[in-house]
Amino acid sequence: MKTVQVAGADFRVLDRGAGKPVLLVHGFPLDHGMWQAQTEFLVPRYRVIAPDLRCFGESPAAVGTVTMEQMADDLAGLLDSLHVTEPVVFCGLSMGGYVAWQFWRKYAARLRALVLCDTRSQADSAETVQSRQKMIDHVLRAGTQFVADAMLPKLFAQDTFRRAPELVEAVRQKILAARPESIAAAIRGLTIRPDVTGQLGSIRLPTLVVVGEHDVISPPAEMQAMAAAIPAARCVVLPDAGHMTPLENPAAFNAALGRFLEGC
Ligand code: MLT
Repeated sequence: MKTVQVAGADFRVLDRGAGKPVLLVHGFPLDHGMWQAQTEFLVPRYRVIAPDLRCFGESPAAVGTVTMEQMADDLAGLLDSLHVTEPVVFCGLSMGGYVAWQFWRKYAARLRALVLCDTRSQADSAETVQSRQKMIDHVLRAGTQFVADAMLPKLFAQDTFRRAPELVEAVRQKILAARPESIAAAIRGLTIRPDVTGQLGSIRLPTLVVVGEHDVISPPAEMQAMAAAIPAARCVVLPDAGHMTPLENPAAFNAALGRFLEGC
């Protein structure tokens, strides 16, 4: 891991390998470690850049609200600090995908292609905003246990709990270790993220859309509709996975990612 300065703060980032740069952007409330299987797979052929976003992992803590746009700005600054001038393949999962929309809106020239994993183009519904508010109240009052209990059943396919309990446990520990104020700041950012559905037709980049067949947060039908609205997108639905496709089915995920990267 490297420490790089972005806007006067220290960000932590994994930067390994050489070749076409692939930026791996984690979901909420995790960190770069969720991409371990992809990092090992890609490093022999690509430059893998996997940061901890603001609020998460070992990157700066935050209070107030951290927007998806702020996170996209951080990533642009991080690429500058790493002297990455070549366009990157931006691969984001869920919240990482929300950040990808903002990165595309502001820094399209820095993109070679998009990989959108288990993410959404819609803004939050009123009901989701309400449940996120409840999560903020809980996390600030009582810590991260509530976040872990609320999120884990939705993150993984039913079968993953039986087949790979150690994977679920590792994610639970990661959530428990997150910083309450920072989690709250990121959740506030999630609730005010814009709906980008109307802009999907303007994305001119080669795009791979990946979703787990059992994803209940960003279900396959929604992801397929999203892919259909992006002119150069292809959607793959992966078996034996819920919302955490890169962790739950790394072999199928890496195969789809590898094929896509060869062609762009
Ligand atoms: C994520 O995995 O990043 C979250 O599920 C995003 C969300 O809650 O909308």
